[in-house]
Amino acid sequence: MNNLQNRANAVLAFSISAIFCLLGAIALSSLVIPSQPSGSVGLDSIKVLTGRYDKNWVDYRTRDNEFANTVMHIDADLSSLFHWNTKQLFVYVVAEYSTPTHLKNEIVLWDTIIKRKSAAVIRKKGIKNKYSLIDVNKKWTNVNANVSLHWNIVPYVGFMTYGRSQASEPYAFPLPSGIQT
Ligand SMILES: *[C@@H]1O[C@H](CO)[C@@H](O)[C@H](O)[C@H]1NC(C)=O
Repeated sequence: MNNLQNRANAVLAFSISAIFCLLGAIALSSLVIPSQPSGSVGLDSIKVLTGRYDKNWVDYRTRDNEFANTVMHIDADLSSLFHWNTKQLFVYVVAEYSTPTHLKNEIVLWDTIIKRKSAAVIRKKGIKNKYSLIDVNKKWTNVNANVSLHWNIVPYVGFMTYGRSQASEPYAFPLPSGIQT
């Protein structure tokens, strides 16, 4: 039966296939668009303070958590990651270190969302960690951590991709000073 309904059905099916092929092509082609992102992050100071972690933690008796407060600088140019299939970038700074009990520790210190190419050049100093820097062992004894800049590229269509900068030199955590409540 070659009536109107059958024709409409065929046209619709063809259009849907064509749209999916196009979206697939966009998704695949944006994986091969060349880009030269550059980024570095470093710490300018680390202060370790003892305190009580009372936001999500219920240990109200002790004040033996050691908080590390860092000040960092970021120098990055991620503008080449913006193309027609880039919706936004999720950019974050990770501190990596190992301790005798936990070999691989990664803590996010700071993050941001970049929605425009013109905002993708980050040159900032004096950034404090957004998130509390506390080790699972509660102490920062003999810890050396490096920091690196990471980014997720969120596309309009297709796969989220990931990149990172090289890790900085290792930074030694100092002995604690002061009391923080
Ligand atoms: C950064 O620290 C992690 C954890 O200690 C380590 O595996 C990695 O090799 C370090 N990277 C550099 C470049 O030092």
